[in-house]
Amino acid sequence: MSDIQWTEDMSVGVEQLDGHHRRLIDLTNQLGTAIASHDAEQVTGAVLGELIRYVYYHFGEEERLMEEVGYAELTEHRQHHRAMAEHVRGLEDRYNNDPGAVITADLHHFLADWLVNHIRHEDRRYKAALTPLKAAAEV
Ligand SMILES: [Fe+2]
Repeated sequence: MSDIQWTEDMSVGVEQLDGHHRRLIDLTNQLGTAIASHDAEQVTGAVLGELIRYVYYHFGEEERLMEEVGYAELTEHRQHHRAMAEHVRGLEDRYNNDPGAVITADLHHFLADWLVNHIRHEDRRYKAALTPLKAAAEV
């Protein structure tokens, strides 16, 4: 699977969150590289661990900003995040118990797919609602 590229049409209109998304894409690509080059399990595990921690951090920040502007679809969006976080936590547990148990190529594929779809479809829905934050930051 080739690297994912962040493109302007993925922008959610808030620089901070675009930066998070770029970082998530970068980490997902690093995971793909580690898997493809058959790097030591520790490398794959370390990248996976960092990616997962960053996913949690990003969800928290994104939800905080949505809360700040009283985003109407926050509850629904939060559910998407929770479902993803639970899935990832399950994979992480399985990986920690037995690194060979999680087929990392599938995991990478899943993360890449989820990330791009989530940014393009769910995240971009809050673009209009969060734009005032950006405007306020520029004043
Ligand atoms: Fe999101």
